Amino acid sequence: MKAIAVIPGKAGSVHLTDLPEPSLDQVPDGRGVRVKVIRVGLDGTDKEINAAEYGAAPEGENVLVIGHESFGVVTEVGPNVTELAVGDYVVSRVRQARGDSAYDVIDAPDLTTEDTYWEHGISLVHGFLTEQYVEQPRMLIRIPAGLRHVGVLLEPTSVVQKALAVGWETQRRLKVWQPRRAAVLGAGTIGLLATLALRLRGLEVVTFGLAPPPYLNSDLIQALGARYVSTQETPVLDEVDNSGSFDFILEATGFSPLVFEGARALAKNGVIVLSSVTGGSRTTEVPSDKFNLGFVLGNRAMLGTVNANREHFEAGVRDLAMAEAQYAGWLPRLLTHPITGLDNYEQAMAALEAKGAIKVFVEVAPD
Ligand code: BGC
Ligand code: ZN
Repeated sequence: MKAIAVIPGKAGSVHLTDLPEPSLDQVPDGRGVRVKVIRVGLDGTDKEINAAEYGAAPEGENVLVIGHESFGVVTEVGPNVTELAVGDYVVSRVRQARGDSAYDVIDAPDLTTEDTYWEHGISLVHGFLTEQYVEQPRMLIRIPAGLRHVGVLLEPTSVVQKALAVGWETQRRLKVWQPRRAAVLGAGTIGLLATLALRLRGLEVVTFGLAPPPYLNSDLIQALGARYVSTQETPVLDEVDNSGSFDFILEATGFSPLVFEGARALAKNGVIVLSSVTGGSRTTEVPSDKFNLGFVLGNRAMLGTVNANREHFEAGVRDLAMAEAQYAGWLPRLLTHPITGLDNYEQAMAALEAKGAIKVFVEVAPD
């Protein structure tokens, strides 16, 4: 079967390859689920992997099939699978619990304390830019048929759900926390989905992006009743002077110096959650006395988040449904760049650089 792969460590190595079909028996005890891939989304991580800045091939192999934002349909189940049936639409979790940490043991590999992690399409496990795959039921999240047109957005949505969940969990330290204003730093797919999730929770949201409005992303933010601010026009701390500080901030720009500016935009008792995977080696100067004093005297909190667990995918399904109920037609507008067929992998990688691209995705097979 066809697959889009890279040679990790070799920049620009993305190519079409041929793989044997997976066997249902690669999951023991008759628990295998075969999934036909329908759509796969791409993001900055795929770009970084093809730039040889990130990513690892499975042990004993030299290529890695990329693609971790999946959507597919179950075509076969082992005799001992009761959770899923042929015809169910599913999205796979990305990270597998294969380490020895306590978190892996409780199937929370997103919290693993080990340096090695197994992620489909990213690290040590092939991804989904291929025709089919086999996984265990606990890795698969069922998507109601009524959400299949936006199912490919579940993986990035799950990352947002975890960021909010850990932020809210942190705030339980406060006994009473009544967040009113949130800021989202970054207006890409994660920033947009975070703006959506925060609006669905009733917060007032300011989302910061680089480009001056109007453009598609700023329109989408306004359509949610949130406000878009271009940092080229108004730096984050100027906006704080104009409209006030924030109870919750999600950093999702990929530009690490903004973490420190963002943290200074927090209200007392506020929390900032960091989610950008920054593979580079950028440095910045920080007014450390002021920065530290603000955190100490204001009981502020900063924490990082990566990946997502099953519960965050499930929460993501509920938010996708809520979004279609409350902001009907909004989610499909994120699906800006469909690429037909695995053969057009070069076009898919190029679309990641295209102006106006929000979600680039490959239509692997018809639904
Ligand atoms: C993926 C996550 C993953 C992270 C780090 C992101 O692009 O969406 O699932 O944990 O990269 O590899
Ligand atoms: Zn990703």
